[in-house]
Amino acid sequence: MRSLIDILELTTEELSGLISVANDIIDHPQKYAEACKGKKLATLFFEPSTRTRLSFEAAMYELGGNVLGFSEAQSSSAAKGESVADTAKTISCYADIIAMRHPKEGAPLVASMNASVPVINAGDGGHNHPTQTLADLLTIYREKGGFDNLTIGLCGDLKFGRTVHSLIAAMSRYKNIKFVLISPEELKLPSYVKKDILKKNGIPYEQTTDLLSVMPELDILYMTRVQRERFFNEEDYLRLKDSYILTPEKLETAKETLSIMHPLPRVNEISVAIDDDPRACYFKQVLNGKYMRMALILKLLEVEV
Ligand code: CP
Repeated sequence: MRSLIDILELTTEELSGLISVANDIIDHPQKYAEACKGKKLATLFFEPSTRTRLSFEAAMYELGGNVLGFSEAQSSSAAKGESVADTAKTISCYADIIAMRHPKEGAPLVASMNASVPVINAGDGGHNHPTQTLADLLTIYREKGGFDNLTIGLCGDLKFGRTVHSLIAAMSRYKNIKFVLISPEELKLPSYVKKDILKKNGIPYEQTTDLLSVMPELDILYMTRVQRERFFNEEDYLRLKDSYILTPEKLETAKETLSIMHPLPRVNEISVAIDDDPRACYFKQVLNGKYMRMALILKLLEVEV
């Protein structure tokens, strides 16, 4: 039995396999419509979510399965002090697979060590978000045709932005990748990600506070929201929240082939005037997330179609 806590638990071959299944689901959805008949997915969300929770649920319904769960800690027995370990043991009695989001880093890992069914990390604090990375990878694959030879700008809250940490880990395994890390000084990429992923694998990167100066070199621009919920101090959040606002004028020097990505939700980081730009990919990421979660559920439940 396998869980998915960190994106690096999947080999590049397995990632290719998931992309292949997701593309097949897009082309032949009927083939998969009863693949998980009789199976149940539990969504245990101790933190707010729109895309991740509902795309997991849509994914399971489109596979013919069923869904149960909760969308806030207050409506579960966590509010009475129940531990993550006990919650995982309990839900294992009701469901065949669990997707868990939690504000504490490592909580889904603890759940996976106590559950008797696969556990998927649906975002743990400011740490990781591997299934957003699956959505991002399918989007990059469909936009760029592959993963090699890309210069990827990551912009915004690189400190708390868990989607950025997981995406860097995943993309670092491909050839000729360069990262451009664009953030305010206070929101730079954590040193453990630089040390354990970038430096360890000899991946080139540059750090800057100036988005405009690096715009012409980017193949992908991955914008992120400043993560208000991770700040200890509201004043710091208010000072930093609008550090980067992408507008059509700022794209004047960008490549025609640029892909503009964002895990969403967006607050102010991308002007709605960009939504109709053919380079905008963020709503494609939303849809791709559902297909990749379908492929992941099939893999972890070992369902052959
Ligand atoms: N991208 C993402 O995780 O969105 P939600 O917080 O809405 O799930």
